[in-house]
Amino acid sequence: MKPTSLFSLAFFSLLASSVFGTDVRSVESGTVWKDTDGNAINAHGGGILYHEGVYYWYGELKIGQTYLPLVNKKWGGTRVLAGGVSCYSSTDLVNWKNEGVVLPANPEDPDHDLACENVIERPKVIYNARTGKFVMWLHQDSPNYQAARSGVAVSDTPTGRFKYLGSFRPNAGAKPINVTSEDLVPTPANLLARDLAGGQMSRDMTLFVDDDGTAYQFYSSENNQTMHVSQLSDDYLRPVGKYARIFVGRAMEAPAVFKRGGKYYLIASGCTGWDPNAARSAVADSIFGPWQELENPCVGEGADITFGGQSTYVLPVAGKPDSFIAMFDLWEKWNLPDSRYMWLPIEFSASGQPIIRWKERWNLPN
Ligand code: GAL
Repeated sequence: MKPTSLFSLAFFSLLASSVFGTDVRSVESGTVWKDTDGNAINAHGGGILYHEGVYYWYGELKIGQTYLPLVNKKWGGTRVLAGGVSCYSSTDLVNWKNEGVVLPANPEDPDHDLACENVIERPKVIYNARTGKFVMWLHQDSPNYQAARSGVAVSDTPTGRFKYLGSFRPNAGAKPINVTSEDLVPTPANLLARDLAGGQMSRDMTLFVDDDGTAYQFYSSENNQTMHVSQLSDDYLRPVGKYARIFVGRAMEAPAVFKRGGKYYLIASGCTGWDPNAARSAVADSIFGPWQELENPCVGEGADITFGGQSTYVLPVAGKPDSFIAMFDLWEKWNLPDSRYMWLPIEFSASGQPIIRWKERWNLPN
């Protein structure tokens, strides 16, 4: 069966129903998921924060016409004007209440980082127990994706509004902890060396908070060719300058990181814009690596294109040890606001390989 027919078979969305008195909460992919007001959930490239019994889903608000800016014509980088970051809340992962735009784009000032003409992608929010603040990091960029910066915003509450603090290229003035002398040779192709003083390029990104409360940013750097894992300061507002290069030259994007049985796992995509490619997976004993690349976690028909999706986050289900949901975007390149979602459970082989199978419908653990 072709992946397209896979999707045409899959016509149901998030369902909450009561069957013989047992709550069945089903997840389906590819259809329009509605919030509790009946509107389509608009939270793309997103991630989820679980805080005090509530899941908060943050994502890119994509509205309006999809267009292909001339500057992106060569690589097909379609876009919509940036809307900002939306937030939805839920206690059961099925019923999502729209909490509004928690970090709006700035329609007034074309020179602002968050100007609608610019790029606001892959927002992630973490809670800092030391400061009591909610901290958002996002990919901030110019329309042609050449700025390649990280933006940071902060809020006293999970539903904002977040206060935007600004953007930067991470780790200015710092060398990676696993740097080699060869990495420092200043050739035109050596972007790491070029950017040592001014800060490293950062595009697709995620955040991960370890058990000890230390937070890390994973970002696609060096023009998407190599990923960096970078430790954040105690207040989570900036990098401390301790970072490692991982998956050197492997062109990985869309990172999603989680921890299982004391090991760190990463799921990511290759680098083909909005078009799907084969997912990647990797494992490490230490967050700074070495990371061992594993197999494509997706198996079965359509696995070579991640069943049409691209990773965005892995959610550990609260109170359900060893239960992880892999969240993917199903991008609609020529109608980006109509991009859909695909959430699938992760299984693990005896050797620890994450396995993701296409499922028409599956039930969330009760
Ligand atoms: C993808 C990336 C998305 C978005 C897109 C633009 O590779 O994962 O977040 O930046 O390119 O074409």
